[in-house]
Amino acid sequence: MAPFNWGSWGLFLAFGYGILTFFAYGIIAIYRGTFFRRPTEKEKLELFLGVAARDRFWDLSKSWAGLSHRFLTLRNGFKFHYVTSNGFENLAHQKSHKQLVIFLHGFPDSWAIWRHILSSSSIREASIVVAVDLPGYGGSDSLKKYGATEVLEALTEFIIKIRAECGMDSPEDEAHSRKVIIVGHDWGGMLAFRLAAEAPQLADRYIIVNGPLVSLMRSNIHLLTESSAKLFKTFLREPWRSRSLLLKSIQTLKPVIRQFRRSAYIFTFQLPMPLVRYLGSGGNYSFLKEIHRLSVGQADKFTLRDAQESMASTLGPSAEECESSTENGEKYPRSVREREKSGNFGDIASYYRDGAAGGVWHKSLETISALFNIWPEEPRRTSSGTGMFDMTPGALKANATIIWGKSDLALDSHLALEGIADYLVHGSQLIVLPRTGHFPQIEAESRSALEKAVEWAVHGEKGDVGSMVQSEYPDAKVVVRK
Ligand SMILES: *[C@@H]1O[C@H](CO)[C@@H](O)[C@H](O)[C@H]1NC(C)=O
Ligand SMILES: *[C@@H]1O[C@H](CO)[C@@H](O)[C@H](O)[C@H]1NC(C)=O
Repeated sequence: MAPFNWGSWGLFLAFGYGILTFFAYGIIAIYRGTFFRRPTEKEKLELFLGVAARDRFWDLSKSWAGLSHRFLTLRNGFKFHYVTSNGFENLAHQKSHKQLVIFLHGFPDSWAIWRHILSSSSIREASIVVAVDLPGYGGSDSLKKYGATEVLEALTEFIIKIRAECGMDSPEDEAHSRKVIIVGHDWGGMLAFRLAAEAPQLADRYIIVNGPLVSLMRSNIHLLTESSAKLFKTFLREPWRSRSLLLKSIQTLKPVIRQFRRSAYIFTFQLPMPLVRYLGSGGNYSFLKEIHRLSVGQADKFTLRDAQESMASTLGPSAEECESSTENGEKYPRSVREREKSGNFGDIASYYRDGAAGGVWHKSLETISALFNIWPEEPRRTSSGTGMFDMTPGALKANATIIWGKSDLALDSHLALEGIADYLVHGSQLIVLPRTGHFPQIEAESRSALEKAVEWAVHGEKGDVGSMVQSEYPDAKVVVRK
């Protein structure tokens, strides 16, 4: 009945926007000269040292800054690669008092995006650290499909198995004195938000760094679009009289337009796969180089070392590291060796294509019963108790500390944070870092602030996390404290 089929129009527009962005990236890269230029001597050196960075991060036989490589195999044979405290077996088996901290990276990274935080001696003395590669990234297996169920089922089984290996749920620790902390950034933050809402038992504290709470963002976009449309309709009734309403209508929509522009790359990920893969490596990786350059923020210099390490983190093991093996004789799984040839961009863009963010998570029976074993009953809801809480889809059920770099170029802060208090339980905070961008764990000033927040969590949450963060980042603001 409708005069237009909005579904196919929407697809058509999205496709057009994707194509436009794709070519815009190409033109920018050609303009900047990163596309055709012959390598200079400096770049040859860079290439050489880049090889060294890949060897440091990915050679399974070597330990990296006192951490070593391990694999964990799921029931269906899927293999996760992670980097963890040396002597993991001993730490896990003896009656250790250590907490467990699990780090989840985002797009387009790997465990190595946490390289600065993982070096903190204060965190490592008090905890077993586990920095995992998400499916399709770094040294972990590929999935056939990156939908919400596939990704969250795999990740949840990984966390449950790691918890068990570390003896976190052992009956001997009746007081439950040892805590599990999940730290997530970007896509890892988005997944952590979903776990805190849908499988809160997995951790005692979620620390989430510049990752979107998808249900809140959707609701904010909906609210703004709706009120903008109302203003516009009123304007249409008397266009000559109410010009100010037109302005207001556009003003209201501004955050949505901003986000739409910032998300341009997401539309290119919907294009046919060969184009998506081309975006990942074409023009001598100009797309990735641009993201990496942004990651250090405005204030810091993007050094050669940054360039090499971020590229090594994104690209994962090279053919050489694929030959290496751990102490126990384990090697990277076959799909990682295949990705080494074809690139992993198809996999990591598929998180966007297959709806891992917004799709429904159909929990398996195994997952449901494993979660039940950690906490037999629904956790008590410590929120307002007005009943409002239950009506907020996507609301968290576990303690969360959100650390947010406000100059984020990927996520609009208004859309991501407005009204977030309604989604948080008692014991949660939102801390905003005014001068920091999308990668607080990389920028020099903010990474020590984030380190403080993790320290606070692993040392039993004594004192106020806000003041801990402010000791490193004086104008950090605790915007929400519940
Ligand atoms: C691509 O970039 C790297 C480093 O940025 C450089 O070493 C390499 O030579 C470049 N390749 C081409 C074909 O321009
Ligand atoms: C959440 O934090 C509050 C306040 O610090 C604390 O009382 C509560 O026990 C925490 N909840 C969980 C499940 O750890």
